Amino acid sequence: MTLAERIRNHEARLAIIGQGYVGLPLAVEFARSGFSVTGIDTDLDRVTALNLGRSYTPDLDSEDLAALIHQGRYEATSDFSVLERSDVVIICVPTPLRKSKDPDISFVVAAASEVAGRYHPGQLVVLESTTYPETTEELLLPMFQAKGAKVGEDLFLAFSPERIDPGNPTFKVGDIPKVVGGITPACTRLAAALYREIVPRVHEVSSPKVAELAKLYENVFRNVNIALANEFALMCRHLGVSTREVIDAAATKPFGFMAFYPGPGIGGHCIPVDPLYLSWKLRLNGYEARFITLADEINRSMPAYVVELVSEALNRRRRCLNGAKILALGVAYKRGVGDVRESPALEILRRLREKGAEVSYADPHVPCIDLGGTALKASEPTDESLAAADCVLILTDHPEFDYRRTVEIAPLVVDTRSATRGIPSPEGRVITL
Ligand SMILES: NC(=O)c1ccc[n+]([C@@H]2O[C@H](COP(=O)([O-])OP(=O)(O)OC[C@H]3O[C@@H](n4cnc5c(N)ncnc54)[C@H](O)[C@@H]3O)[C@@H](O)[C@H]2O)c1
Repeated sequence: MTLAERIRNHEARLAIIGQGYVGLPLAVEFARSGFSVTGIDTDLDRVTALNLGRSYTPDLDSEDLAALIHQGRYEATSDFSVLERSDVVIICVPTPLRKSKDPDISFVVAAASEVAGRYHPGQLVVLESTTYPETTEELLLPMFQAKGAKVGEDLFLAFSPERIDPGNPTFKVGDIPKVVGGITPACTRLAAALYREIVPRVHEVSSPKVAELAKLYENVFRNVNIALANEFALMCRHLGVSTREVIDAAATKPFGFMAFYPGPGIGGHCIPVDPLYLSWKLRLNGYEARFITLADEINRSMPAYVVELVSEALNRRRRCLNGAKILALGVAYKRGVGDVRESPALEILRRLREKGAEVSYADPHVPCIDLGGTALKASEPTDESLAAADCVLILTDHPEFDYRRTVEIAPLVVDTRSATRGIPSPEGRVITL
């Protein structure tokens, strides 16, 4: 039976390398649709927890995971030898930045070396990690060719970017169209056939490079538009108008406008990172990606701006930042998740502490944080702690917080997420971006 037939019959054995926010929901989606899936991860604690049916992401219930394990459709392992028995391998490992802000592609290289080292003819290999253009062709393909693989004949290699939005209840893996670009048309066809088993629509493109660039363009689009909203907030402050009111008014236009809102900066594993993969590659080609550089500069200046807002708001109340009690609501990089990677909240709290503020925080999704070597535990935002704070600083608009109560009780609120909009408050009590 050919691999295409085995995919159609859901008999192909899948291995998904990297069981993080991307790889785990993907593995589960394939398992749900009837495939037998092995999730491979180098993190032994994660593997143990997954095999016990414990999910760590809001996109997957532990009961659902446990049921799939019970049915023999899913298991996690750290043992790469399972690749010898896999028909399809999907790579979903991290692609962070180095301190120098250059791409750190070492996780992709490590994972792909494991796959190439165990390559057997007839395999489909798909890279999903977000990466710079030409990674699949320039980095992965030669690893397999060195093992004698003939692409499009006995090796099928493609890139298909993940688009998951952790914590988004409307769009989960199975609802989001996939873009697929293979090295040859046969690679594209086979990879597209695989994804058609789990998503409503697959968009085939002419090469992995197009698929790699499509993902980067999506994230550059968000990054640049968030930067524009952030800079617009600074403009509105100079002009003494509410940014939110202006953007909401503009958003009534039913075409040609998409609303983006300002915030304390950007976080997570994608938006602050991915555009720099593209600008790095372009720099190697002698081109400076100006929009990306400017957007990055504006977004990264937001934490300092928020500290300035807090300082000025306290100053108006004859308080100084040094010694002020600041209670931060939310430290995760976005609403409804417990992920603090690249979260601007951490930089803001670090800066506030450096200036002598007494910082505490509440976040139902993040039990503790590390502020430059100092561990801080989350507290409950009680009436007492809200009233005792000199300033309550809203950094993540988690749905669990009671914003009405916060505005009623706290003497001063700095709201970087427009979480308190529509809630009446005495003049000067609530400062928004
Ligand atoms: N999180 C998102 O919202 C999102 C969305 C779209 C795309 N992406 C991209 O998907 C990729 C994965 O992101 P993520 O959020 O799932 O990362 P993650 O950090 O949540 O998970 C990555 C997992 O890979 C494991 N790992 C690292 N090296 C490994 C190796 N050599 N072999 C096996 N396992 C290994 C880690 O232990 C971890 O469990 C990145 O390129 C990211 O940019 C992420």
